[in-house]
Amino acid sequence: MQQSAIPFTRKDFGDDFLWGVTISAFQNEGAHNLDGKGASIWDTFTGRKGKIRDKTHAQVACDFYNRYTQDILLAKMLGFNVFRFSLSWARIIPGGTGPVNQAGIDFYHRVIDACLELGLEPYVTLYHWDLPQALENKGGWCHRGVVFAFENYVRVCTKAYGNKVKNWIILNEPFGFTALGYMLGVHAPGKIGLSWFLPAVHHAVMAQAEGGRVVREEVAGANIGTALSCSQIVPFTDNEKDLKAARKADALFNRIFLEPSLGMGYPVNDFPLLKRIERRYALWRDWDKLAFDFDFIGVQNYFPLVVKYNAFMPVVNISEVKPRARNVPTTALGWEINGDGLYEVLKQFSAYDRVKKLIVTEGGAAFPDLRAENGAIHDRDRVSYFTEYLEGVLKAKREGIPVDGYFAWTLTDNFEWAEGYRARFGLVHVNFETQQRTIKDSGYWFRELLNAEE
Ligand code: NOJ
Repeated sequence: MQQSAIPFTRKDFGDDFLWGVTISAFQNEGAHNLDGKGASIWDTFTGRKGKIRDKTHAQVACDFYNRYTQDILLAKMLGFNVFRFSLSWARIIPGGTGPVNQAGIDFYHRVIDACLELGLEPYVTLYHWDLPQALENKGGWCHRGVVFAFENYVRVCTKAYGNKVKNWIILNEPFGFTALGYMLGVHAPGKIGLSWFLPAVHHAVMAQAEGGRVVREEVAGANIGTALSCSQIVPFTDNEKDLKAARKADALFNRIFLEPSLGMGYPVNDFPLLKRIERRYALWRDWDKLAFDFDFIGVQNYFPLVVKYNAFMPVVNISEVKPRARNVPTTALGWEINGDGLYEVLKQFSAYDRVKKLIVTEGGAAFPDLRAENGAIHDRDRVSYFTEYLEGVLKAKREGIPVDGYFAWTLTDNFEWAEGYRARFGLVHVNFETQQRTIKDSGYWFRELLNAEE
């Protein structure tokens, strides 16, 4: 690959900085019904007409279930020292509650052992969006029973792996799965409206804290976090209406899962609609269960949001000014590229007293990734993306913000939810017909940055 000079070195981030790469069960594993796995809401949703842009599903995906040894080795070869992956609840407890599937437990033992043998520190996400369908049939995240089912699942996982795995991430982007899945209907389970969204938020906040408590009880010396999506919010103008819309957007996109977990309750002052959670869905005894003393908060920032007041949206009164209208650089999904936005959210999240440390648990970008004649993939855009976002991290670190790691999304191209396979985020290209892997220039770039051995 043609190397352009990298404007920083690994050393600039400090010797203890964690360099990780992340995948998730549904997006990578495939083996959707093998060895006793139960169906998840995403197995169901991908079977529904018109839900996935390129009409694909994830029954095979990257076949990580069979190819994990090779893929974990790739992560090692690219120089990473952390491998973050998620457990499929329906593979471990096919019915959501009830009997445990030993074959599922054994699979993740093999994955964990493969990491440990290579000296990769496993970061295990307990929930990355693939709720067992059996639980959705009982109301899913809208039903309070999901919290108890989750606690039980976390106990099963921590009892199985707690002696090998110290780093646990309770939920992945709870705002993502509640808003897209239970408010906008574009992700599984495809529900639309506030009467689904608000109880789903409340139960996910509870599960986030209760899950943390179970890990603390079961795993000696655990390092516990939760991974939150976040965006720098920029008001379109500084007139009072836009400023108010920006505060609302901030409450919704950045604070709704963070603040209750810090013992501050929901951000009802800036987003009064959330009072409905208090009135309709919360029981008095819930209030002291929303907080948990997380060891770290996972920050997942892809783009900033420019927002303005919108009189035509009575419920929220905010709308986004799209990047296209602002003429700023974007990825293939139309997401604004802005590394300074990452710096801003790191600063914002670190300003809470009770946030002890931050890890960027995801960051990455989709680009078209055209193959050169010799088969190479010169994904220069992705290299500049990582350069810019890592500069944002470095700026934060230099100001003393406790950000202890950066995990790239993602190792191999995989199933990008409602986008299907067309949005490629990998450092490694996957030919989904043959399952052949090709390291992209961005993968080699990480290898150079991280000084991986040949
Ligand atoms: C957020 C999610 O955690 C992950 O599953 C998704 O693929 C990436 N961001 C990119 O959209």
